[in-house]
Amino acid sequence: MKIFIVGVGYVGLVTAACLAELGHQVTGVDIDPDKIKKLEKGECPIYEPGLEEIIKKNIQAGRLKFQIGINEEINKFDMAMIAVGTPERESDGRADLFYVGETARHIAQNCRKKDFVVVGKSTVPIGTATQIRESLAVYNPRKTTFHVGSNPETLREGNAVSDFMNPDRIIIGGDKKAQEALLKLYEKIDSPKIVTNARSAEMIKLAANFMLALRVSATNMLSRICDVTGADIEAVMEGVGMDKRIGPKFLKAGVGYGGSCFPKDTKSIRSISDHYRLDTSIFDAVIEINSEQRKWFCQKVDEITLFTLKNKKIAVWGLAFKPDTDDTREAPSIDVIKWLLEEGAEVSVFDPVANVKKIFSKKIKHCRDMYEAVDKAEALLILTEWEVFKQADLKKVKEAMLVPKIVDGRNIYDPKVVRKMGFEYVSMGRP
Ligand SMILES: NC(=O)c1ccc[n+]([C@@H]2O[C@H](COP(=O)([O-])OP(=O)(O)OC[C@H]3O[C@@H](n4cnc5c(N)ncnc54)[C@H](O)[C@@H]3O)[C@@H](O)[C@H]2O)c1
Repeated sequence: MKIFIVGVGYVGLVTAACLAELGHQVTGVDIDPDKIKKLEKGECPIYEPGLEEIIKKNIQAGRLKFQIGINEEINKFDMAMIAVGTPERESDGRADLFYVGETARHIAQNCRKKDFVVVGKSTVPIGTATQIRESLAVYNPRKTTFHVGSNPETLREGNAVSDFMNPDRIIIGGDKKAQEALLKLYEKIDSPKIVTNARSAEMIKLAANFMLALRVSATNMLSRICDVTGADIEAVMEGVGMDKRIGPKFLKAGVGYGGSCFPKDTKSIRSISDHYRLDTSIFDAVIEINSEQRKWFCQKVDEITLFTLKNKKIAVWGLAFKPDTDDTREAPSIDVIKWLLEEGAEVSVFDPVANVKKIFSKKIKHCRDMYEAVDKAEALLILTEWEVFKQADLKKVKEAMLVPKIVDGRNIYDPKVVRKMGFEYVSMGRP
């Protein structure tokens, strides 16, 4: 099939490259000219394992192209997918649908093809497909017939290519023609497909992210009880996860969830509930526990530090919201570094791929490697569970630090082992 993908960020780009890999003819469109220039040269603008290789391969095979902005080219395609950002509106936590609206309007103004299918891939509030349909009707001067579908993406950054190619399920919503087109699009992927109306498809995505965030916040709340009572959250959740009704995934304590999805999607579903005057307390609790968890971590740093943090050198390992990505949107590292700076600490950071230069510029030092970051530091804070940190030479770390103290926000080390090496070691919910 011929697919036009609007917005080539994390989701749109992975979708474009993977659909080309499946044999479709794909053009990725964006309003960011720098991104398109890089992509045309086969360079991947984001860090995502395996993605650059399939971009290059499919450009060479002539199945993948890129262009700036929507134009008459759209008429050469069977389907347009909307994969633009839906960021959180600061005023009320609702998803900002400006970019989706702009995209729908530009599709309507340029498309004159009969029976054209428009599919929402972005994560959106329930009812957005209906608004897309209305917008296509309003702005389309040629009275083209459009079929509207919803196919929310469930890939995880850091594992995106493999998730796209082997998803747990594919969510397909929309009118009959849109459903048929989506079933054809994914016919080579042998995963369960849930076929429903657009509103249910939109809701599945928000509901799934909420359920995952709920598990994280529940685990973190339990870890605080472990912290004050001496129980060990790892043993507790291992025991809890062995219950087949619960299962073992997303039961790890830490410094809380971040990224471009969970924070915004939990706030989005909360605001939908609020809009319909439903009880929002379960959503409020998940959001509140997550933000408190960052403060809980900071409190541990405060307690382990001699006197105050003022003028003390503090090392931070990990900026990305999770390993194997360069994405720092809503990452715990940002709040923790802001707090360290407010307290007057000197902050040196290291992450294998991510940086926060745009936010902190020269207020913190970005180091070339993890050992440079800990040089003369009075505490090491771990905020992302990168594999390299798990494999670090802790003897070298101890020798480089002024005071060997670790506050581990991701529970990556065995407390017994690091304490035996002479570190003062604090983690999340573990004695
Ligand atoms: N990042 C993830 O892991 C993930 C996973 C599943 C779903 N989602 C959802 O997918 C959507 C996209 O997320 P993302 O992380 O890829 O966002 P992103 O910010 O990385 O990418 C969005 C892209 O859309 C482009 N864009 C904006 N307006 C445009 C327009 N009018 N025409 C063409 N391009 C335009 C931007 O320039 C940008 O490149 C969001 O709704 C998000 O919630 C994200």
